[in-house]
Order: sequence, then C-alpha cells, then structure tokens
Amino acid sequence: MAQRLTWCEVSKAALMGNLAEFRRLVGPDCRLSPVVKANAYGHGLELAARAFMEGGADALCVNDAWEAGRLRGAGIAAPVIILGNVPPEQAEEVVELGAEVVAYDRDLLVALDRAGKAAGKTVKVMVKLETGTNRQGLRMEEAWKLVSLAAELDGIQLAGLSTHFADIEDTTDHTFAREQLDRFNAGVDILKTRGLKSVMRSVGNSAATILWPEAHLDMVRVGIGAYGMWPSTETFVTAALTHRNQLALQPALTWKTRVAQVKEVPAGEYVSYGRTFRTTHPARLVVLPVGYYDGYDRGVSNMAWVLIRGRRAQVRGRVCMNMIMADVTDIPDVTVGDEVVLMGTDGDESIGAEQFATWAGTINYEVTTRIAESVQRIEV
Ligand SMILES: Cc1ncc(COP(=O)(O)O)c(C=O)c1O
Repeated sequence: MAQRLTWCEVSKAALMGNLAEFRRLVGPDCRLSPVVKANAYGHGLELAARAFMEGGADALCVNDAWEAGRLRGAGIAAPVIILGNVPPEQAEEVVELGAEVVAYDRDLLVALDRAGKAAGKTVKVMVKLETGTNRQGLRMEEAWKLVSLAAELDGIQLAGLSTHFADIEDTTDHTFAREQLDRFNAGVDILKTRGLKSVMRSVGNSAATILWPEAHLDMVRVGIGAYGMWPSTETFVTAALTHRNQLALQPALTWKTRVAQVKEVPAGEYVSYGRTFRTTHPARLVVLPVGYYDGYDRGVSNMAWVLIRGRRAQVRGRVCMNMIMADVTDIPDVTVGDEVVLMGTDGDESIGAEQFATWAGTINYEVTTRIAESVQRIEV
C-alpha cells in the first residue's frame, strides 16, 4: 500500500518520560491510569498504550468497548477501564474483553451481572458520584441504590468510586473544583457510614494531579499531561504560583508532511478558495499535501505557520480539503520532497498544539485528537 502523504511521529521516550513524571508526583501506591481514549489524544491508541504500559502504568482508560477491543486486538492485556458509555447490549462483549466499566444505571449493572455469570467472571464497575459536572455522576440516593445493587449481584464487583472536575483547567479560581473534591469525599464518607466497605477512589485528571496532592487518592486518570501538554495556561500559572510546576513534560507528537510542489507566483495573484489571500510582491509558494480532511483546521487559514528547513512559513489562503499553500519566499532552497513540520519542533522553531489551538480558536485537546486516524502514526 502507498505511504500516506502526512504522518505523525510519536516519541515513545517522551510518552514514557511524561508518565514517569506523573509517577514521581503520585508515588508508588497510587494507581496511575493514563487516558488513551480518542486515539490516545491523537497519538495512536496502540502505540501510546504500549509505551505507557512499558512506562509502568497500572491500567489504561478508554472511552468505549470499541477502543477496549482495539487494545485487546493489539495483544495488550493490561487492565482497561471504560470511562464512557456502555449500552447494556454490549455487556457480553465487555465481559469478554475483561474491561472495567463506569456504571451509572441499573440496566447496565443487571446486564453485566448476567453476562459475567454466564462467562464465570466477575465484572468490575466504578460508580461515579455527582459533584457538579452533571455528566455521568449519580446523586447520593441513586449512587447508594447502585452500590447496594452491585453488592447483591454475584457477577459484579464494585471496584471504585470516582468523579470528574468541571472547572479545574479553565480558571485559576479553584473554589468550585475544591467544592467538588469536598463533595466527593463527603459522599464517600456517607456511603461508608451506610455500610460500604473500603473502596478505591479516583478523581484526578491531569490538572488535579499536578495541582493537588490531596486529589491523588487511590487512582489518577491522567490524559493530556501524559502526552506532554499542559491542560491549560491557567493550570500552568496556578502550578507556577504554588510551586508545583517542577514537572518536565515533553510533547510527544510531531506532525509532518513533505513539500509537494514549489511555485513562483507573481504579485497581485490570489491564492486558494475564496481568494482570501493576494500576493503583494512576487512570491514563492509551496503546496503541502495536508488539509482539513486530515484534521488541519480550516479555521487557521491565512493564520498558521509551518516549519520548513527550521524556518517559519505562513499558510496563505484557505486550508483546502487535502492541501494547503505556504509562503517560502524568504526561505532559500526549498525543494520538492523537503520535510515540513506542521506541529512540533524543527531546529530552533516550534509550533505547539497550544499555538495551533489559539489560531483555531480551540484547546490543545481538540487539536491533537482531531488529527485524523488516517494520518499514519510512527513511533520514533
Ligand atoms: C472521566 C475522565 N477522566 C480523566 C480524563 C483525563 O483528563 P485530562 O486529559 O485533563 O488529564 C478525562 C478526559 O476527558 C475524562 O473524561
């Protein structure tokens, strides 16, 4: 099969190094479960999963049974936790995959119990407590019902209680996030007074894990940080102010393509669809075989830069479905076949996912997860 025209190089050493940094933060007794959902935040599910397991992860968090199935299909036998939706009709598949599930309704629990018993297995479930995100969490009475039901069902083992922060990376004011942590701890205490035996507790995403040792509890689910990106500027600033920024995170992904065409364009010519760019002087442009189909956001038209021969070349005109044009007038000797860095570092220049996100009006999470799965991931 022909090689793709655009690819991502993913550094295994960076992934393992980032995980080691989080291990250093949480210590040996806290379960470190990196989040590999969404194609490992765009880094390649199987590749990242293997690097994290080799780096000492205790479990891998995915979004759904399909992702869990991909891990098993790649021969990865690690404990897997499904964080997202599991429809009851997938219960048998989940049991076969040996995955742990975040359960939030009775129907799923009953279906998992039945499937578990049929297979002679016990299914581990986590129950999510509502603390203010209003996504999957259960309020106290509902949570208690589910916890009690889990105790009655032989095919089910309550593996833990969890919650997820709504507003920890978007702000430097962590009053709300603190309240969520307090509500979670209070909820666990209430369930214990009603008879719940000791159970694994998990609240920490990257920001909480970096900022608050008291949020490490028994397991953290670290996503963005494991890929070497900070959750946000606000998290970085808070970490700096509280002296919790001694964390050597290294971005693991470099997105590349090659120059497909070099062309001289006279002054006064338009470039690309909609004629949104017009040359004011004779220019040399390159055509690059990457576009919004690949996840190169159309919103960065006329704004983004790419790196060629270690220098910045600005994107000219609209991003097309499969191509972009960039200005190399001031970069000597650019030739067809030259490697181009769309995101990452080349010599002294860098374009981070954060920079790209600013151009695209979004966040680094969206930028890397949006790199299409058809863009080849290569471990370096
Ligand atoms: C339930 C849950 N836990 C943990 C994470 C990881 O968050 P982060 O990437 O900010 O570390 C996510 C990511 O969206 C999530 O949905």
